[in-house]
Amino acid sequence: MSKPKFQTVTGMHDILPQDQAYYEKIQEAAKKVFSFYDFEKIDTPILEDANLFIKSVGENTDIVEKEMFTLKTKGKDSLVLRPEGTASIMRAYLEHGFLSLPQPVRLWYYGPFFRYEKPQAGRYRQFNQFGVEIIGEADPIVDVQTILVMYSVLNDLGLKGLMVKVNSIGDDNCRPLYRKALVKYLREKKSGLCSDCQKRMKVNPLRVLDCKNEKCQEVLSSAPQSVDYLCEGCKKHLKDVLEYLDELKVPYCLDSRLVRGLDYYTRTVFEIESTKAGENTGGVLAGGGRYDNLSKMLGGGETPACGAAAGVERIIAEMKENKARVSFSSVPEIFFAQIGPLAKKKSLPILEDLRKAGIKVGEAFGKDALKAQLGKASRLGSKVVLILGQREALNNMILVRNMQTAKQVEVKQEDIIKEVKNILKEK
Ligand code: HAM
Repeated sequence: MSKPKFQTVTGMHDILPQDQAYYEKIQEAAKKVFSFYDFEKIDTPILEDANLFIKSVGENTDIVEKEMFTLKTKGKDSLVLRPEGTASIMRAYLEHGFLSLPQPVRLWYYGPFFRYEKPQAGRYRQFNQFGVEIIGEADPIVDVQTILVMYSVLNDLGLKGLMVKVNSIGDDNCRPLYRKALVKYLREKKSGLCSDCQKRMKVNPLRVLDCKNEKCQEVLSSAPQSVDYLCEGCKKHLKDVLEYLDELKVPYCLDSRLVRGLDYYTRTVFEIESTKAGENTGGVLAGGGRYDNLSKMLGGGETPACGAAAGVERIIAEMKENKARVSFSSVPEIFFAQIGPLAKKKSLPILEDLRKAGIKVGEAFGKDALKAQLGKASRLGSKVVLILGQREALNNMILVRNMQTAKQVEVKQEDIIKEVKNILKEK
């Protein structure tokens, strides 16, 4: 068969009916956990000023350097399809004066994000994320609460073998020292690094740490670790985070190589992975951390904050791998069949009455033959068929056929809902 003329753009995908139940289930699971922990939902626009991400995510990060979908408006503004949610939410926090609300402000979000990445398993150019941001609180317990809510959603979705990786990348006090030690080390080993890392080493040396290249991995095995360079404040913060984690039944490990690829992070960073990740999932399910400098980076005041986001498509791949149960649209237990032009005319209002009464009904209005309509009823597995023929339509009656016993009774149209509810109760 020849390919249709138009297809989805590279890296974008249709969400087909058979996958909708996964998306709904994930949104419901997220909403349930986030509502319990008092998060309020926020939606921000898909398009934002390009500078918002340049100033927050960072000029020398992969996201800003290579992955932004940028467009110029007729008025010559430079806008981008949002690559992530945190910068937009901090912008909204500052723009709407949320600082005057009781702190911290807890927000959650769900929606599409866009990154011009090389498409591969679990990596799309348009993907969905859900996430949380807790803005206005410096206490390390909030870092752990962020981890906990994200972990709980994934756990509630039935994902197995989850592992939280945690690290601290320090703050403005101590990170320069660590950076210096790392650059010194990398300079000495420069020839062993891939060409990308040789460049990264100059502009964003911490990013070298999560390079997947085998040669680089070898060099990095004895690189200095950020935890050894933490100042007293950051050390205490990390210790508290680990102690709170110890109190929870959340499997975690300290990963000294974890740095995350966005400039706004300070202190705690974390990722949640499935240790049983299948080939199609493409790795990390959720990631986040503390970003105490972001408010200042965007022209606001000193406002500590912490948050995380999870990739919906990766979670779905994991759910499929784990054979997680999701319920697809419910089967109509009642089927409506009509015979003849008068009955067909009277069918729509009767179906509307059943809908208003909360009864799900199947139909095949495009087919006139009763045999074809009953065929669909049996394919759907409907237990009861309502049949409206010419005679019943004239007499305001309707036939109710029990498909299991093949017994049929005639009832007044005004009594259909009562009759149907009784039958459904009996079963
Ligand atoms: P991120 O690690 O860039 O963090 O993305 C979070 C999650 O989104 C990833 O763990 C992954 O599951 C998913 N994801 C990212 N890129 C793609 C892609 N191209 N295709 C499919 N899924 C993808 C952030 O976005 C931060 N804003 C998280 C955060 C919130 N930090 C603090 N608050």
